[in-house]
Amino acid sequence: MRKPVIAGNWKMYKTIAESVDEALALKPLVTNANHCEVVIAPVFTAIKTVADRLEGSNIKVAGQDCSTEVEEGPHTGEVTAFMLRDAGASYVIVGHSERRHVYFETDAMVRKKCQAGISSGLTAIMCVGETLEQREQGNAENIVRGQLNSGLGGLTASDLNRIIMAYEPVWAIGTGRTATPEQAQEMHAFIRRVFAEGHSAKAAEALRILYGGSVKPENIAGLMAQTDIDGALVGGASLKAKTFAQIVNYQMR
Ligand code: PGA
Repeated sequence: MRKPVIAGNWKMYKTIAESVDEALALKPLVTNANHCEVVIAPVFTAIKTVADRLEGSNIKVAGQDCSTEVEEGPHTGEVTAFMLRDAGASYVIVGHSERRHVYFETDAMVRKKCQAGISSGLTAIMCVGETLEQREQGNAENIVRGQLNSGLGGLTASDLNRIIMAYEPVWAIGTGRTATPEQAQEMHAFIRRVFAEGHSAKAAEALRILYGGSVKPENIAGLMAQTDIDGALVGGASLKAKTFAQIVNYQMR
């Protein structure tokens, strides 16, 4: 049985004080959420304070990105995965479509970030997903297969325990347009098949695959009812504790 993960990606929102307030507001609302792992990803500057304030709770903290470099060094503006861990993070999101499309991150960079996260003791949440144009051209599966194989290349069998996939169709992110549960299920099953081909059936069976893209309290239960959807990566709807808690406490499947 795969334990679901509900992760909130706060993107570039909230000051430290606002992040702490929201995290502390979330805490009592999800204390009984033993059915899933609850994760929030504040901005870099708020990670340490938020993680400290959440210590002992069932909410874990994620970085939204990390450097391709494992070791510290002369890389202005970068933060290593180990530094995120040092600040209290236990997960790191890599390859988010905003990183890929706005900051031109390549599959090779995503792979290095994924490896950096894992080797630093974090669990990497690796995002994949096609654009609307790619989907309309019938290329969605090829794109996702390419991102998956290249992002996960070089990982050992034990590394795979520290990987969570997130399928985030670019056309559904921040647009209010969610993939239907059937569309999402189809791609999640595909991702699991590709993962089984590249690694093993056992690893594929254990792999958590989150859906992301306009997830809200109204659509979470339908998504979670699908066999291959093991949680959600939530953007906009994670910014308010009350709304995010409704998503976390979705009706159990
Ligand atoms: P959204 O963002 O929920 O606002 O669509 C999801 C994401 O970017 O992870």
